Amino acid sequence: MLNFAFCQNDNGLKEAISAFWQEKGRIHLNTRLSTTHRRYRAWLSWMTSLFFLGSGLWGAGFGCTTPTSTESSAETAQESESTDGASGDVSPENNPDQIAILKPKVIATISPEVTVFPLPEKLKGKEVLRFANVSGGDTLIGGVGGFFVLKEKTFTLASDQVDVIGIAPWLQGGFAVATSDRIYLWDSQLQTTLLHQQLGNSPITALAAYREGSLWIGTRDKLWRYENERLVSFDDIKGVRSLLWVATLKTLIVKDSDGKDVILRQDDLGQWQQRNFESEGVALIQALPASRSDYWGLSDKGLWLRKQRETTAAWWPYRIQPNEKNEETLALQQIAIEATSGFAWVFTPTELFRIEGEDASKMPRPSEISADISLIHSASDGTLWVADRQNLTRIGQATSSITYNQHVAPFVSKTRCTNCHASVGGQAFPLETYEQVKPRAQKIVDALKAAPGVLAMPPAGYPLVGGDAALIERWIKDGLKE
Ligand code: HEC
Repeated sequence: MLNFAFCQNDNGLKEAISAFWQEKGRIHLNTRLSTTHRRYRAWLSWMTSLFFLGSGLWGAGFGCTTPTSTESSAETAQESESTDGASGDVSPENNPDQIAILKPKVIATISPEVTVFPLPEKLKGKEVLRFANVSGGDTLIGGVGGFFVLKEKTFTLASDQVDVIGIAPWLQGGFAVATSDRIYLWDSQLQTTLLHQQLGNSPITALAAYREGSLWIGTRDKLWRYENERLVSFDDIKGVRSLLWVATLKTLIVKDSDGKDVILRQDDLGQWQQRNFESEGVALIQALPASRSDYWGLSDKGLWLRKQRETTAAWWPYRIQPNEKNEETLALQQIAIEATSGFAWVFTPTELFRIEGEDASKMPRPSEISADISLIHSASDGTLWVADRQNLTRIGQATSSITYNQHVAPFVSKTRCTNCHASVGGQAFPLETYEQVKPRAQKIVDALKAAPGVLAMPPAGYPLVGGDAALIERWIKDGLKE
């Protein structure tokens, strides 16, 4: 069945035509706002009636998004034509008969190390916990009742003077600690900053690290970015409830007060593109970036992967354990993105799945992780931290030190660097062995941070699906071990 939606934006200057069609459970979405749409106008009037008929029959009811106003903030961009790089993947759209759903080819069973840290008494039973760690540095947890530093296996009280609503790595191994009316710098002691004075009188509601020394600050009124001692506001993002910054994909996920996800992504020209997926026909509970162009979505029907190809995007049903009708048989609860690899973690009541490109692995859900998860955090050493109201559980081995074979080689792997940095058929010096990578470690850090005078890596348009400069920096600090 064919459905058309006709949308008109605020200023009435431009019409957007979105064509949706559903076929074999897939939802296609044409994101092109072409100038040639003018010729559709004539027949649009009667097509519009078909749309209402169609959506009525279908019962799905597509709406139009009102493009977010950009006037109030020069930094906030509209949902625009596809600016994301086209993915190099073989598109299933070209083989509609072959693939109706995506699913892992193989599901391996893994048994990573699981370590349980009981929460400090003061934080037990609290709904929202904040967490941050710095590779090679401290791990902090906080909430209403103060914040604590994890030393070895126990939490040491850092301060019970403040009710923490956000913690983020900030300056030189220190942390920014936010309460509803202050932002502190914690560097083995708590120091007051004057940042709150510039945020208006709106209560601070969330905090996330941006680049080195920079922060995202959510308030009830708007979203702010603090960088180079300057605050920039995103006025149309209101009621921020939580913030998640995925550095490697230059993407910020904002949960608003309605629990909806708004995604801010910096494009290759440095512009911030804002989008939500409300008008795209999948009722998402959660959305997360999967690569520079693709997104994961979780709805009550299961997992979806939004694949972008040039101007066309489609939500593909991703079924971990499909039945013969291609419906998900698992009760999926939550998804998370692993910072170093870009892989997705999927939580069910009894198992945890990790989707790794075409394959997946699974492990039994540790019994210490109750249904009441308040936080999932992926650390740059590859460990996943999960908090409920009683415990903080670490999945994966805490690395005493970073090694080439265990951490760096997978990071510099095919999908990121060695497709170009190869001895055979490569377009740049090879980064395939310990001997080749070791002498360039600092250069790699500079390239990943896009430091001045160095080519930013990976180059524009190529997705960096995992890992960040912090991993390589820590490798250097740990002595460049093989
Ligand atoms: C699309 C191809 C491509 C990808 C992907 C890519 N590079 Fe490069 N890289 C290049 C080219 C081309 C150069 C320039 C080589 C030269 O100058 O000889 C380069 C240069 C570099 C340099 C030197 C920068 C300078 O200014 O001295 C570093 C370091 C580097 N790359 C690291 C990486 C890392 C790490 C990754 C993966 C995260 C990566 N590259 C991914 C193509 C790529």
